[in-house]
Amino acid sequence: MSSQSKTEIYLRVEKEILAVVEGETNLTARMASVTCLLSAAFDSYYWTGFYNVDPEKTNELVVGPYQGTLGCLRIPFGHGVCGVAAKTGKTQVVEDVHTFSSHIACDINTNSEIVVPVFDRDKNLIAVFDVDSTEHGSFNETDKTHLEALLKKVFSA
Ligand code: SME
Repeated sequence: MSSQSKTEIYLRVEKEILAVVEGETNLTARMASVTCLLSAAFDSYYWTGFYNVDPEKTNELVVGPYQGTLGCLRIPFGHGVCGVAAKTGKTQVVEDVHTFSSHIACDINTNSEIVVPVFDRDKNLIAVFDVDSTEHGSFNETDKTHLEALLKKVFSA
């Protein structure tokens, strides 16, 4: 898919998401809406969802709202693509998950992924947003730019 088509879809879905979650303060409802609308918008989104920072455990993620096949329940910070995104606070774009040493294979069909850290308005990490694709190299700078902007508007504003 061209960068232009991707951008058009991200901008359209962003509008839809912001309209749906306007005035809704519940975090689960906001995360579920983001997951649903993005997952429906892109064929390449095979597994789409959030891993939340568990307030009851130190440095551990626990699965949140998602669409797709069964996801792992818990991921320690620093493990897998999600755990590295949580530990570093930086978006991870992985063209081939089989070359990522600590990748956690929740689903053997996954070949590429993007994981974006999610912060609240006080800049505390609250979750990571994980998208997996069955294709190699599905995600690039265009996805990173639009997902980071969208998640900032929904969770940090
Ligand atoms: N692939 C992820 C684990 C989560 S799932 O794929 C749903 C990772 O390595 O962080």
